[in-house]
Amino acid sequence: MKAIEIRNKFLKFFENHGHTIIPSSPLIPENDPSVLFTTAGMQPLVPYLLGEKHPAGKRITDYQKCLRTNDIDEVGDNRHLTYFEMLGNWSLGDYFKEEAISMSYELLTKEFGIDPNKLSVTCFAGDEDAPRDNVAAQAWKKVGIPEERIYFYGKENNWWIAGEEGPCGPDTEMFLDTGKKACGPNCGPDCECGKYVEIWNNVFMEYYKSKDGNIPKLKQQNVDTGLGLERMTMLLQGRKTPFETELFSPVMDQLKSLAKVDYIESRRIVAEHLRASMMIIADGAKPSNIDRGYVLRKLIRRMTRHLNKLQIDLKELSNLVDLYVETLKELYPELEKNKEMIKQTILEEKDKFVKTLSHGEKEFEKVISKAKQENKNVIDGYTIFKLYETYGFPPEITMDLAKEQGFQTDLSEFDKLFKEHQEKSRQGSEQKFKGGLAEQNEQTIAYHTATHLLHKALQIVLGEHAKQKGSNITSERLRFDFTHPEKMTAEQLKQVENIVNEQIKRDLPVTCEEMTLEEAKDAGATGLFESKYGERVKVYTIGDFSKEICGGPHVSHTGELGHFKIKKEESSSAGVRRIKAVLE
Ligand code: ALA
Repeated sequence: MKAIEIRNKFLKFFENHGHTIIPSSPLIPENDPSVLFTTAGMQPLVPYLLGEKHPAGKRITDYQKCLRTNDIDEVGDNRHLTYFEMLGNWSLGDYFKEEAISMSYELLTKEFGIDPNKLSVTCFAGDEDAPRDNVAAQAWKKVGIPEERIYFYGKENNWWIAGEEGPCGPDTEMFLDTGKKACGPNCGPDCECGKYVEIWNNVFMEYYKSKDGNIPKLKQQNVDTGLGLERMTMLLQGRKTPFETELFSPVMDQLKSLAKVDYIESRRIVAEHLRASMMIIADGAKPSNIDRGYVLRKLIRRMTRHLNKLQIDLKELSNLVDLYVETLKELYPELEKNKEMIKQTILEEKDKFVKTLSHGEKEFEKVISKAKQENKNVIDGYTIFKLYETYGFPPEITMDLAKEQGFQTDLSEFDKLFKEHQEKSRQGSEQKFKGGLAEQNEQTIAYHTATHLLHKALQIVLGEHAKQKGSNITSERLRFDFTHPEKMTAEQLKQVENIVNEQIKRDLPVTCEEMTLEEAKDAGATGLFESKYGERVKVYTIGDFSKEICGGPHVSHTGELGHFKIKKEESSSAGVRRIKAVLE
């Protein structure tokens, strides 16, 4: 059975049992900035679990696009995915445990043809919040699951809630016995040895966990179920991994024929991350340095690096996108509709990353040779931090590379240095810029570099007198105060904008050197010269364009900044003007 047939069979089955089929909500939650991506079918349906009337009625069935990134580092093994599709059936205050269980059993054994002898189930064991779920266990017995294949576990296995707060309840989970030998006397569905594979989860949502930890009952009893399409496809096709199903295999095979050296993990990472990226972009996200845009950026970066590892020409990416559109268009017509936009977004992001990557990889190789000479097998946090600070090389990439070469990484020091560094530049910028970087992430770092470009551009357009008086940066914008006696004209503003954007287009490298204050002055660096005589300072140079004394951090190339736009120019105080600008 193909994935599309499994989806259709599922929906049809529940339609025949009085459910209305509703389409998937987007992967990017509508009107909910608190979550980055839809992680479960229930997310878009929360208001209806709480009692609001759904226009499609009390019985609903759906297929929901989901993305979970907590296991992103595990992708490459034989089962982890970030993007997946969740099939579900819903009772919104209609049927409850017995009917849900009997329908699940019927679909699995009659429609999907799973041998009932291979099914085991788990139920909630009970605690102070909710009783032992004898009702669910009884329903399983009634359909024919013998007692020895009904297991009881606590909240860690048989309770479902999305996050900390919200609708929740005990669940019952169905497992397929793969026939592998039990790993020991205590081997059961909760065991990780691989004998049991979870195939479906029925959540009986009749509680609501509130912020204060109370778990009162909801107005109505709901059922929320989730069945992973990729996993079911794999099992019904008798495959060992989802990558062997038709969802991935055309791309996996193509990667194999293109690769000059073959690493199956890398092929899986490329296939998985490319599919996930395409789905995210089709639903409207763009790579950026914050939130969902950053997740997307990370996926594309990792994919690019593994294409390099496989020694596949990055020009092939465009064909791989085409191949995926062909492979998946029946399931996801939105991929075909947005094909050109998806392609362009991925290719542009790839180009940006290639530069950082080649530079950083060279430096990383030096680190590895040194470690080998010194007989070390751990790459310490200090080194990881230096690669990040100096070359903008993302720590997760350093960790990946180190792992591949058989080295361990010790991040504890990285975390400490990163925090110290944040603290320092916060203090530094408070002193220097009276406000400064209140928070630090990739977006604020980008604004920081843009501030240097703006400073220099203002001096070119207005004259040397246009000196920095203050700066304040958030993830959303930069604010820059400078000395200038009068309102800037529209033409001057346009000129400044153009000069900054030109430097971004030139993709100038940003480099950092440490020197004494005197050396910095001699080198022609601007900045606030209030440090003590002889003190060592950092000087950041942006290509041939700007040189400033500054605590950093900065991006590694100006090409990472995007498009610079001035939003406002106004008076700040006598003789001081203020510009607000954004990177788009
Ligand atoms: N909401 C349940 C899950 O995600 C079905 O497993």
